[in-house]
Amino acid sequence: MTTLITGGTGKTGSALARLLYAANRPFIVASRSGQAPEPFKSVVFNWHDAGTFENPFKVDPSIDRVYLVIPPGMDMMSFAGPFIDLAIVKGVKRFVLLTSTKSVAGGPAHGKVHQYLLDKGVDYAVLKPTWFMGELVPILSLNGKELKMALFLAATENFAHSYYRSIMDKDEISSATGDGKMPWVSCEDIAQAAFNELTAEKISNKEYFMLGPELHSCSEAAKILSSVLGREITHRKNTVEQQVEEFKKMGMPEPVGKALAFAQTSVAEGKEAVFMDEPEDRKYVGKRTLEQYFRENRHVWMKE
Ligand SMILES: NC(=O)c1ccc[n+]([C@@H]2O[C@H](COP(=O)([O-])OP(=O)(O)OC[C@H]3O[C@@H](n4cnc5c(N)ncnc54)[C@H](OP(=O)(O)O)[C@@H]3O)[C@@H](O)[C@H]2O)c1
Repeated sequence: MTTLITGGTGKTGSALARLLYAANRPFIVASRSGQAPEPFKSVVFNWHDAGTFENPFKVDPSIDRVYLVIPPGMDMMSFAGPFIDLAIVKGVKRFVLLTSTKSVAGGPAHGKVHQYLLDKGVDYAVLKPTWFMGELVPILSLNGKELKMALFLAATENFAHSYYRSIMDKDEISSATGDGKMPWVSCEDIAQAAFNELTAEKISNKEYFMLGPELHSCSEAAKILSSVLGREITHRKNTVEQQVEEFKKMGMPEPVGKALAFAQTSVAEGKEAVFMDEPEDRKYVGKRTLEQYFRENRHVWMKE
């Protein structure tokens, strides 16, 4: 009855590890380094090295459920497929897959993995989150300078990563989201849904959207952050071209920056807000608000 957490050192995986630990449920964290915060058990696992796929089952042959966080890329099935096959042979009976609101079974990238789980007829749940608020992840022992850098890198693509530098340097965030609102979701809420699916007597065998409890535009988010930090943070509304440039200046690879800026325009068109109107059985609405997230992580954006 052991859970293997792939992406177990990441934002949602580490939150899931904490929940399983608190509930006294056995689990193993998979990571490329084979390291995880004490006292979690961990194993070397690399999606891009099939030679590591057996490692978790050697450490604990009783693994029978897996949380799947698969690194980005269009060709995920080339490595996710063989791992899922092996896991089934080793006795895994249920999978919880993390994708995103836009991912559909049979579609590109995560969609193919989703479809594969359906085709295999295994017990599954597919969690489809909207934009993350972006929690911090526990970090192995580091000195002060490394810790600050690691907080920056590990935190998130959103408030504590993409936006971190401009919040610190210019007291602003910029985006091509315009006045579009998003149901920002907390990684802790995503982890709670994963925990529920992994530990329930019977898994749901369905896919659903993972949303936060409130809709906020980036301008509203900046206002909330301002009130938490006690200094004004503004939202600069960029065109998509300006935003691509902005991401380039941040050092983001161009295709990633373009994809992200394009995704922001879909927020501007209200395409992320509409998920709030989904029927109850097609969504999981978390409890944690953006304001709570900012308050709990206030130290990240404080200036000394
Ligand atoms: N951010 C958003 O707003 C958002 C919204 C919707 C969906 N998503 C989806 O969420 C997923 C990311 O989840 P997350 O935020 O919880 O993770 P994360 O914080 O981005 O961390 C990534 C994890 O994957 C592991 N990893 C990366 N490359 C690996 C490899 N080659 N082999 C094995 N492990 C590897 C890393 O572990 P090590 O470095 O220790 O190996 C780390 O634990 C992505 O699929 C993304 O599309 C994100």
